[in-house]
Amino acid sequence: MRKFIIGGNWKMNRGTPQAAKDMLEEFIRLVREINNVDIFIAPPFTSLGGASILLNTNIKIGAQNMYFEDTGAFTGEISAKFLKTLNVEYIILGHSERRNIFKETDEMINKKLKKALEEGLKPVVCIGEHLEEREAGNTKNVIKRQMEGTFKDLKKEQIIRTVIAYEPIWAIGTGRTATPQQADEVHAYIREILEKTYDANTASSIRIQYGGSVKPNNARELFEMENIDGGLVGGASLEAASFAAIIKAATKEK
Ligand code: PGA
Repeated sequence: MRKFIIGGNWKMNRGTPQAAKDMLEEFIRLVREINNVDIFIAPPFTSLGGASILLNTNIKIGAQNMYFEDTGAFTGEISAKFLKTLNVEYIILGHSERRNIFKETDEMINKKLKKALEEGLKPVVCIGEHLEEREAGNTKNVIKRQMEGTFKDLKKEQIIRTVIAYEPIWAIGTGRTATPQQADEVHAYIREILEKTYDANTASSIRIQYGGSVKPNNARELFEMENIDGGLVGGASLEAASFAAIIKAATKEK
């Protein structure tokens, strides 16, 4: 059985150590009894220090991006090695905002992914289609192409340590969630590709999160679907009560 995994992606919000601490103190209280769900929060870099309040709790620290070199003349970038000094365990890679606004390519994300795995970070790799691509009936082609590029040359023991987040771009920050059936259909397709590339065991052990307007009122119906193993949550992870409600929706068995 796959353990549910829920991540909070704060994006460029709650950027001061104090703003992080204010939310996290309350959040720790609300979810401290929950051990059957893996939980992480990825604040902005400037709040990673404030997130150290999470140490020795059931909530782990994530980062939203990294570069694939260790050190050197890469102005504005931060390496996996640096993140580890701040107790970061999870790393979100290839988020659609990184792909679309900052022009990250599958090739770059592939390099970052390999470096993250080499450094022992737990990668959460995002894939997902634009609205026009869905409407043109191209969702599966896009997913296949992104997986081929992003996971290129990844060995079985590497993909097994990777979490995949399916995030249809048209559902991110829009309040327009994919229906549980729409999401599950793509998740099943992702597993089909994993099975073809690796094997059935590998495909059934990899966790696939859904992301895109996950809220307390729709989390349960999404998490009930066979192939959905949790969520990557943006807006609703910024407040302790709403994020805790989403985590609680994952504590029940399917
Ligand atoms: P949202 O963001 O929950 O605000 O739609 C999800 C994400 O971008 O990971």
